[in-house]
Amino acid sequence: MDNNITWHETSLTKQERQKNNNHKSLIVWLTGLSGSGKSTIANLSEQRLFNKGINTYLLDGDNLRHGINQNLGFKEEDRKENIRRISEIGKLFVDAGVVIFVAAISPYKEDREAARHRFEEEEFIEVYVKCTLEECEKRDPKGLYQKARAGEIKNFTGISQPYEEPDSPEVIIDTTSQSIEKSVDQLTHFLLKKI
Ligand code: ADX
Repeated sequence: MDNNITWHETSLTKQERQKNNNHKSLIVWLTGLSGSGKSTIANLSEQRLFNKGINTYLLDGDNLRHGINQNLGFKEEDRKENIRRISEIGKLFVDAGVVIFVAAISPYKEDREAARHRFEEEEFIEVYVKCTLEECEKRDPKGLYQKARAGEIKNFTGISQPYEEPDSPEVIIDTTSQSIEKSVDQLTHFLLKKI
């Protein structure tokens, strides 16, 4: 970092913003294979909290790749940079007093840990949206597994690149057989106790 850059403290603090909102702010980080249900669960959970008057927002990996992350691909170093940017953006939202959801495969433990370390202890909620590769491949909502198996997509998570499961996530949602409705209940029940 350039030595000539100074950090400016703002007079309004995160605590004051949280107080104004009547709730805490935190980041809810959903990780898991493509097709595991991250985006769907994040979207419906965000809606539930929003309906309760909580200030929320959702950062979806796919959507961010249309804009701020459009120069990134799927090589290991690009995924690292993707996760770095998403977590830095997430930090701004937490600072702004928002409950921010992230839905991104984020396949590497090291990158998720680096993301976690940008936050205070209680602020980072890692949610492992767990689903067998077999089931994700069966769902294949975007037809990507089929393309990856045919060699048309390189570096595909679970097929030609690893997915490293979290060791001790705050929440595990097993979507292999659990319904979306139950999964959303499980997550929102957990979050409402934290907020
Ligand atoms: S991450 O690994 O860097 O966190 P991110 O969540 O942003 O990934 O993007 C994953 C999405 O990109 C998937 O849902 C899928 O639609 C699409 N995609 C395209 N190519 C790949 C690939 N090689 N591996 C995984 N997902 C891919």
